[in-house]
Amino acid sequence: MAHAVRTLVVLDPAVPRDEVVSALPMEGVDVVAMIDGFSDVDDALQRTRADMIVVACDHASEAVIEMIADARRKRPDRPVVVLCSGAPNGFVRRVFDAGADDIVELPQSAENVQFLIEKAIARRQRPDRDPARTIVVLGPKGGTGKTLTTCNLGVLLASQGHRTVVVDVDLQFGDVGLALGLRPERTIYDLSVAGGTLDAEKVDDYLAHHQSGLRVLIAPSRPDQASSVTVDLLLELYPILRDEFDYVIIDTPPGFTPEVIATIDVSTDVCMVGTLDTLSLKNTRLGLETLTLMGYPEANVSLVLNRAQTKVGISADDVAQVAGRVPDVLVPSDRDIPRSVNEGLPVALSHPKSDAAKAFAALMTRYLPAVAVPESQGRRRLLARKA
Ligand SMILES: Nc1ncnc2c1ncn2[C@@H]1O[C@H](COP(=O)(O)OP(=O)(O)O)[C@@H](O)[C@H]1O
Ligand SMILES: [Mg+2]
Repeated sequence: MAHAVRTLVVLDPAVPRDEVVSALPMEGVDVVAMIDGFSDVDDALQRTRADMIVVACDHASEAVIEMIADARRKRPDRPVVVLCSGAPNGFVRRVFDAGADDIVELPQSAENVQFLIEKAIARRQRPDRDPARTIVVLGPKGGTGKTLTTCNLGVLLASQGHRTVVVDVDLQFGDVGLALGLRPERTIYDLSVAGGTLDAEKVDDYLAHHQSGLRVLIAPSRPDQASSVTVDLLLELYPILRDEFDYVIIDTPPGFTPEVIATIDVSTDVCMVGTLDTLSLKNTRLGLETLTLMGYPEANVSLVLNRAQTKVGISADDVAQVAGRVPDVLVPSDRDIPRSVNEGLPVALSHPKSDAAKAFAALMTRYLPAVAVPESQGRRRLLARKA
């Protein structure tokens, strides 16, 4: 093991302390705290940043079952090993059901306990996952198609089986819920006033379910509730979502509000949405320039041009000149778009053959992990092409 396992020892007062101490390994395990009773376990875990919990309890302890279940819920990544004084028989099953990794009877050799601890740690260590792509959808003004883009990208990723969540940070006038036909039973405002610390399970309770599999944190239903949703809340929320999902997509209000800036700072990608008129294009350029000033890597910015074919008289060259760069995706105007909004099913799913749907599919592909072609296969393909 790379370093000693930081271990929090929780003692049931009914268990002789010396029995516990002699069961604790001297090597590989660093007892960072030993606490009596089960009430402050979560606090102690946070304070000591312990890697795991060893609980010493009596075989008839009811409180320990609750404590294990609570620890499992709040800190699913921290293993729990139980040392039980007295024959644990019927107790064992309940201890495992509560989420413990292992249970042994006291007295116990330190060697055995060390083995159990190492096994528990190894089993819980999750394989390293790439951090979720966190895509913030920006647009210089209202009505450019930010919400349209957010929703279509979201449902496409979700319907392909990627765990995807949309957060509506247009806190005053957000309409992602409306666009997806979701009832605002629980919104980000409700989450903000719920109190207590945020964890994955709690956040999950506030995410609406769309039929595509997409989860959505809906914007407050009234503009006056917006101020409850602070930048601090968002900064607490994002890491939780990034842990639980493959993609986090954030819809935004126009402009660089503090929430938007904080969101850009934690994002991996920006999707800038503009429309095809000179004013919007100029503002799009200003938006792109602002990102550059913020030091945002240009390679991680996509430019979507919405209502792309409506205005004759603006050529592709004009667009590139006024907007400052060539758009990556062109979305045409489409009568089915407002219609699909009424149905709560974005055009990408309701009319998959339409040009608009194809544009959003192309946008989605930009965010899929590049498929690595094994070298030999790549070479074979090259040879086939030459022949
Ligand atoms: N390409 C398009 N074709 C038809 N209607 C569109 C198109 N893009 C957007 N709309 C409609 O315009 C309105 C504004 O779009 P929306 O995505 O809500 O903009 P934003 O979120 O940037 O304010 C919506 O009613 C949407 O359905
Ligand atoms: Mg919007």
